[in-house]
Amino acid sequence: MRILDIGSGSGDVALTAAKMVGSTGEVIGVDVNGEILETAKHRAKKTGLTNISFIEGDARTLEWEDNFDAIIGRLVLMYMAKPTETLKELKSYLKPGGIIAFQELDLTLFQSLTHPKTPIMNQLMQWICEVFQRSGAHIGMGLELYRTFIDAELPEPKLDFAAPMGGDQLWSGYQYIANSFRSVLPLLEEYNIASAIEVDVETLADRLRKEMMTAKRPIVLTPHVTAWTKLPSL
Ligand SMILES: C[S@@+](CC[C@H](N)C(=O)[O-])C[C@H]1O[C@@H](n2cnc3c(N)ncnc32)[C@H](O)[C@@H]1O
Repeated sequence: MRILDIGSGSGDVALTAAKMVGSTGEVIGVDVNGEILETAKHRAKKTGLTNISFIEGDARTLEWEDNFDAIIGRLVLMYMAKPTETLKELKSYLKPGGIIAFQELDLTLFQSLTHPKTPIMNQLMQWICEVFQRSGAHIGMGLELYRTFIDAELPEPKLDFAAPMGGDQLWSGYQYIANSFRSVLPLLEEYNIASAIEVDVETLADRLRKEMMTAKRPIVLTPHVTAWTKLPSL
C-alpha cells in the first residue's frame, strides 16, 4: 500500500504504518514543521526503514502526482481552520477503494470527567482545555469527526473511542501527565493561564498519585476518537 500520513510530527504514526505496509509498500509523511520532521527522519533511519519519506509542506495545498491507497493522520485536523475542506481536498488523492482514517482528541468529553474529590486533576483539565481553546484548536474535534467526514462527502465512517485510564500506584500515566504539562507550560504562561509555580511540574506526578490514592477515583487521559471509511471501488 502507498500511504500518506498528514501532520506526521515526530513520526509515530508514519513509522507504524511503514512497518505495517512492509518493504513492498511506501509511506510519505507530511508536516508544515520542517524541524520536527528532522526527528521523524532520524527515527526512521535508526529503525532501518527504507520505505518511508517525509516532506515539509502544508497538507491542505500540497499536490500529488500519484494517488494513495490510504490517507491517515492523528491529532492534526483539530489544528486546521477548515477540516472539512481539508478532507475534501485529500479525498481527491485517494484511489478507488482507498481508506481515509483520522484520530483526534475530544476535550469536551474530557471536561465532563471532573470530580469533587480530585481538585488537582480538575485544575489540570481546565488548564489544558483553556490552552487548546486559546490556541484556536477545535477542542471537540473527536466527536466532530463523523460530521466532518459526511460534510466532506465521504462514505459514512466507522468510529472508535479510546481513552487510556489508570490509577494504581505504579501507573505510568502520572508521569505522562507531568511530562505533557512540562511541554505545554510555555503556552500556559504565554496565555496567562497558569504560572510555572502553580503547575509545579516537578512534584506533579507525585501529587496526582497521592490524590488518586486518597480519592480512589481513577484518572482518564484525553479521549481519542477515530473515524475511518473506504471510497467505493471501481
Ligand atoms: C499534535 S502533532 C501530531 C503528530 C503526529 N500525528 C502524532 O500523532 O504523533 C500535530 C502535527 O500536525 C502538524 N500540522 C498542523 N497543521 C498542518 C498542516 N496544515 N499541514 C501539515 N502538517 C500540519 C503540526 O506541525 C504538528 O507536527
